[in-house]
Amino acid sequence: EDDSVLQQRPPVVTVMGHVDHGKTRLLDAIRNSKVVEGEAGGITQHIGAYQIVTEHEGVERPITFIDTPGHEAFTAMRARGAQVTDIAILVVAADDGIMPQTIEALNHAQSAGVPIVVAVNKIDKEGANPAKVRQQLTEYNLVAEEYGGDVMFVDVSARQNIGIQDLLDAVLLTADAGLDLRANPDKDARGVAIEARLDKGRGSVATVLIQSGTLHVGDAIVAGTAYGRVRAMTDENGVAVQAATPSRPVQVQGLSSVPRAGDTFLVTEEDRTARQIAEKREAAERNAQLAKARKRISLEDFT
Ligand code: GTP
Ligand code: NA
Ligand code: MG
Repeated sequence: EDDSVLQQRPPVVTVMGHVDHGKTRLLDAIRNSKVVEGEAGGITQHIGAYQIVTEHEGVERPITFIDTPGHEAFTAMRARGAQVTDIAILVVAADDGIMPQTIEALNHAQSAGVPIVVAVNKIDKEGANPAKVRQQLTEYNLVAEEYGGDVMFVDVSARQNIGIQDLLDAVLLTADAGLDLRANPDKDARGVAIEARLDKGRGSVATVLIQSGTLHVGDAIVAGTAYGRVRAMTDENGVAVQAATPSRPVQVQGLSSVPRAGDTFLVTEEDRTARQIAEKREAAERNAQLAKARKRISLEDFT
């Protein structure tokens, strides 16, 4: 693509880490909200996506955050070839230290080539040992700057609101130091479905992340095998949005069915084209399933 049409876009950050190390609480602190308190059993069941704006070196900078339940959704999205994350925040509770899912999360980020910022959380707790977390992660090639490495570690307490701005600054420093985050906003939108559900009143509601172009209300889109016209778009606060630019997560209404996390979407010139692409994909999926079923039967025939 011609360089001159590319414009700066906000970084997309995935918050990863072991269960209960404080991913959602940390996002709550960042957004000044209280998602954790509303969750069943305090367990994240879905992926939320939000954009916040922070002041960094005197400039207002947006950052998009994705909250995953553990790291499963990240894996599911990668399995579909969707790479949505620019930077991973690895949350490690300072009292627990690294745990199995900490390692899995960092392995995912490293194999996807995604830079990591480590948030050493719960430093308010008795028994918190942030130095030990740094030492533990050295063995996984995450060496803190203060130990001669190039990974930013930030001590935080999501509960007591400590270190939150430092963490946001670290994310933006990481983005500015090594990432070329640009996209062309002046074309039909493309992106990825982050989560989707069936809403009683609104029908299919899909949270999509715009990766290039601009999505408008009224656009014909296809997402996986779902298609339709964008009837309405809302932001994370339920406020209506008319147009969504790169790195913006929005909730889209108007699709024929519920896309899967990781399904890519694109805008088509006509409704008909979106439907035809969706139907083609559906037929291809059906055929693949049939082929699989046939294979099972023929194998069983010989055993
Ligand atoms: P899953 O989504 O289930 O993987 O958990 P999570 O990583 O999102 O953790 P969550 O934010 O739900 O926090 C787990 C528990 O730790 C909650 O009870 C939080 O209130 C608590 N917690 C989170 N951050 C802090 C912190 O900085 N200090 C203390 N003391 N507790 C915290
Ligand atoms: Na939790
Ligand atoms: Mg959570």
